[in-house]
Amino acid sequence: MIIRKARLCDVSKLYALEGELFSEENFPLSRSSFAYHVRNNMLYLAEVNGSIAGYVLVLIKRTNAKLYSIGVSEAYRGKKIAEKLLELVSKELISLGFKKTTLEVRTDNKIAIALYERVGFNIKKRLEAFYLDGCDAYLMELEYGDKTL
Ligand SMILES: CC(C)(COP(=O)(O)OP(=O)(O)OC[C@H]1O[C@@H](n2cnc3c(N)ncnc32)[C@H](O)[C@@H]1OP(=O)(O)O)[C@@H](O)C(=O)NCCC(=O)NCCS
Repeated sequence: MIIRKARLCDVSKLYALEGELFSEENFPLSRSSFAYHVRNNMLYLAEVNGSIAGYVLVLIKRTNAKLYSIGVSEAYRGKKIAEKLLELVSKELISLGFKKTTLEVRTDNKIAIALYERVGFNIKKRLEAFYLDGCDAYLMELEYGDKTL
């Protein structure tokens, strides 16, 4: 497996993976959004034998870094690919001088919450009816001051 920055030529495959990962109420990314994020944000993918196994997207706004999305194709789950993607973006964010990363996650997404807690995120607040189907979100935060990934 290799982890590398996504390129414009990856957009179609990323969009196909997104359709597998997220339904409409979870705000899936469009093809043009992926192209935008390749150019303007931190978008890494994990590649296995030429296939995209997973990706992570971090939105960068001045001093804020927000983990917007992460996903691993079902065929590749349970191999810690998501953890490796998170470790890599955290290292890059630390090297760029960011002090923390935030994210929102569905309160019913136990697998993702456990993953985020494992890499050091803490729940900060509950956001009522954050998703289109009425599901709440947790706002989670990872402070780099006391974490080395
Ligand atoms: C959350 C997600 C990114 C985790 O990716 P991953 O690379 O499988 O992560 P890990 O290998 O660390 O596995 C996490 C947990 O998934 C579960 N898991 C293991 N194998 C699995 C499999 N074959 N299928 C489904 N879940 C599995 C286990 O509980 C595992 O935890 P454990 O290793 O401590 O037992 C992935 O499940 C996913 O893409 N989910 C759909 C999209 C999503 O919800 N994204 C997060 C919100 S933006």
